[in-house]
Amino acid sequence: MAGQVALSVGMLSRRFPERYVAAWQIARAALEIKREDRQLSYASKVPDSIQCEPGAALRVLGIGSGSGEVDSAMLKKVLQRHKTVYNRVVEPSGEMLERYKTLVREDKSLGAVTFDWRQQTAEEYFQTKEDTKFHLVHAIQVLYNVEDHHATLRNMWEQVESGGYMLVAMESDHSDLGKLHYKLWDEFGQGDRLKTSLRSSGDVKQWLDARGISYVTWENINVNFNVTECFKEDSEAGKMLLDFLTLTPYVSSDTKIKSMVLDFIRCNSSLADGKVIFKASSDVVVAFRRK
Ligand SMILES: C[S@@+](CC[C@H](N)C(=O)[O-])C[C@H]1O[C@@H](n2cnc3c(N)ncnc32)[C@H](O)[C@@H]1O
Repeated sequence: MAGQVALSVGMLSRRFPERYVAAWQIARAALEIKREDRQLSYASKVPDSIQCEPGAALRVLGIGSGSGEVDSAMLKKVLQRHKTVYNRVVEPSGEMLERYKTLVREDKSLGAVTFDWRQQTAEEYFQTKEDTKFHLVHAIQVLYNVEDHHATLRNMWEQVESGGYMLVAMESDHSDLGKLHYKLWDEFGQGDRLKTSLRSSGDVKQWLDARGISYVTWENINVNFNVTECFKEDSEAGKMLLDFLTLTPYVSSDTKIKSMVLDFIRCNSSLADGKVIFKASSDVVVAFRRK
């Protein structure tokens, strides 16, 4: 496996989608932030000024919604100003989608939302060439996983209703995790970085700048990962977490890459209550589509 890893830098979700989803769940458990705080940190960035046609339901498109905790918090924010919402959910993992459906069944405050479930990747969904336009199109911590970063942004943007918004959250280039991604790519990456998952909010802003699209950025939604397990030699959870942090499959089986990654984390982390804490921080980029 070792030699293979260098060839797979940044390719976890593309080559091993199930391992990626499992690693995401371990990573989520390692987050030192209350779930509600994480959800609210994104929901609070949904613009208050989203408008829709009088009497119509506000249309929301979520890409890579996972188990729906963040998306449902965003829906609740929208429901403060709109009576009814139509929410199309695009998520390839059946397991994640089932969790989202359970959450919706159990949360009566989402009763005014009509859900349209699509168990698809973004690529599959956008191939269907739907005509519906949405007042809010969002992708929270997802665009690492799509095959073509630019094509996905273009497809998302095309489905934004005029006067609507596109909201994208991604790791900041300036965070410790973002810097790890760039170092990993500089030292071991091959070819075009944008063909891998090692993408950041800076890539989204560049895409928008190149098209003269106006946007605002909220910087630094900070989250701390408890990475203590990564330093335990035989910890499966530690290996999965390292895969998630590097977005690279079986990264621990390549001694050179593993040692660079662990050295970087060691030098850029802190100790708290016996835990090794490594910082990540995301940007939320919100673009407005002029009428
Ligand atoms: C890090 S999770 C984020 C989930 C959720 N948005 C959140 O922030 O809690 C990434 C999600 O992207 C989904 N995903 C992976 N590949 C995808 C693709 N090609 N298109 C759309 N979603 C994808 C995964 O199944 C997973 O649910």
